[in-house]
Amino acid sequence: MTSGGTGAMRPFAGRHVVLGVTGGIAAYKAIQIARDLTVEGALVDVVLTAGALEFVQPLSFEALTGRSVYSRAHAPADPLLHIRLARDADLVVVAPATADFIARAAAGMADDLLTTVLLATRAPVLVCPAMNDRMYLHALTQANLARLEQVGYATAGPAVGPLAWGEGEGPGRLLEPEEIVASCGRLLSANDTWSGRRVLVTAGPTREPIDPVRFIGNRSSGRMGYALAAAAWRRGAQVTLISGPSAVPPPFGPERVSVETADQMRHAVAELLPAADVLVMAAAVGDFKVADVASQKIKKSGGNVPQITLAPNPDILRSTRPLRPPQCVVVGFALETENMAEHAREKLLGKELDLLILNDAGENGAGFEVTTNRVTIFDRDGGVADLPLLSKGEVAEEILDRVELRLHGTAG
Ligand code: CTP
Repeated sequence: MTSGGTGAMRPFAGRHVVLGVTGGIAAYKAIQIARDLTVEGALVDVVLTAGALEFVQPLSFEALTGRSVYSRAHAPADPLLHIRLARDADLVVVAPATADFIARAAAGMADDLLTTVLLATRAPVLVCPAMNDRMYLHALTQANLARLEQVGYATAGPAVGPLAWGEGEGPGRLLEPEEIVASCGRLLSANDTWSGRRVLVTAGPTREPIDPVRFIGNRSSGRMGYALAAAAWRRGAQVTLISGPSAVPPPFGPERVSVETADQMRHAVAELLPAADVLVMAAAVGDFKVADVASQKIKKSGGNVPQITLAPNPDILRSTRPLRPPQCVVVGFALETENMAEHAREKLLGKELDLLILNDAGENGAGFEVTTNRVTIFDRDGGVADLPLLSKGEVAEEILDRVELRLHGTAG
């Protein structure tokens, strides 16, 4: 097995993933899964069952992974293939997993390449069921899935949604490729420091109403906070993401609490904080709200140009100081344009933070509305880390590495 990389695209870079594909109509989604895992840097060995070959062709997977694709036909030529695949694997994921495959796996059968790999591996296994809803809900399938979980396999899905043509809606739909890739990431990077920890992340902008149709907002996309929530969930934490309105799809895994105004965000934080081990305030909280919100739409008729009076919003991060559990690791963000280090230190002390992440407002490709960021991380012990321009996902990993150091030695 290879260890988790420390560089780009954690936790997938350089990791061996066996992707088992069985014969369901959702097998087409496995092509996207193989591609996405490869793009993330994983070395993907695809194993197709005889049933899968009825739905998808090895060539599609070969072209996308750049690696050989295996099926029953390979086993006679290489009798130790299953041992090699099983030994090299950092993770085995079966997507889609049919009722038939789940039954065979639960019975410990070793009647094809995929089931032999499963028995021979000591890597984590993720099973993603996909089938007709009545087959999924059948007591035997449920018992077989429970058996797989009993021996330590993880399962993800199925989702409730439209099934095969003419079958309507029900539980049985394969999770979406990005959800399965996120679940793979959690199995590849979960570690003891994070498992069972509660992490609270705020993200996105806040919106302060002017009248029922207008608001004051800001340009925050939510991406940095979403990347942090996704990365903390991958490490095994129980994550709640409190998010202002964002057009970016929320990450799979964290629980989501949607808010609009700073007051709503403050309430949500205050409610959840007492149980939190980590608080990350990545939201771009509006500092001001409208003093008198109009109850009806403000009209322009008669040349009316409204004067809007603002009132201060609460500083959420500051307001959490008396509410924080004693061991809670607290991370704040700052965006400065001058005397950056000095202002960052002031905020670190004033808001009583463990880490302060300084966004360089003058840097191209950093801050709001972009997928990359360049930050400097200040810690309460005086440490300063100047990071290069990185994707927000990589920045999130760097931040969580430092949170992890602070979590070591505190009770989970
Ligand atoms: N923050 C907050 N509540 C606010 C404003 C900010 O909790 N009303 C949090 C942000 O989520 C961030 C940190 O405080 O983690 C720093 O926010 P920033 O706007 O940079 O700093 P301010 O303290 O508002 O100071 P200033 O605007 O004067 O720079």
